[in-house]
Parts: sequence; C-alpha cells; structure tokens
Amino acid sequence: MNWVKVIEADELEESERKLIKLGEQTILLMREKDRFYAVSNQCPHLKLPLLKGKVTADNSIVCPWHRSEFDLTTGEVKEWSSWPPGLGKLLGCLKRETALTVFPVKMEEGGVWVGLD
Ligand code: FES
Repeated sequence: MNWVKVIEADELEESERKLIKLGEQTILLMREKDRFYAVSNQCPHLKLPLLKGKVTADNSIVCPWHRSEFDLTTGEVKEWSSWPPGLGKLLGCLKRETALTVFPVKMEEGGVWVGLD
C-alpha cells in the first residue's frame, strides 16, 4: 500500500468535502461524524461526480444524479439507480451494479493519509 498524506486533519471541517487529485484519480475526501472517508468522485453508474451527494445517517452516500446509494466504508451498493421513478430503473440497466471505489484512510502526524494500491 502506498500511503499519501493529502491534507492536515484540521483543514477539513465536519461535513466538509474536498476533491483531491492523485495521479489519474479524483478522490472525494469527506469528514463525517469526525471520521474521514475517501472515495472515487466518479459514481460507478454513469461516471458522474459524487461531490454533491448526500450522506445518510448510516454512512452511505447517495448519488445526486440517479440516487444510487453506496456504503462509505465498503463501497457496497445499497440502492441502484432509483431515480427518476420508472426511468431510473431503465437507466440502471445501462450498467450492471458496481461497487463504489473506496480508499483506506489513516490519521498520522496530524495528517490525513489515503492508501493507494
Ligand atoms: S450517475 Fe450516479 S446513479 Fe447515475
């Protein structure tokens, strides 16, 4: 695992987000309930940005486009393309269910580190 320090921990307030460019990847770094999460900013459904996605009480992110929902820790799909009603399910058929890419995060030396393969 290649760990990269991306920010100082105090640079991101609670519920704040930041896009981090690492090589070819754009990582969405989030601070929720005093925990940091790092996920791909591309929704696996149609590759649209997750930046404005809502975080739920059980630590999932809901894509702002067709409301696919992913677990922030595992990337597991909880809901696939449910929006808009009727059309969402049709759009969901354009691509089979695919987990969100999540990256390990650790706190060290006052910084937030993201692990890359
Ligand atoms: S792009 Fe995210 S659910 Fe369609």
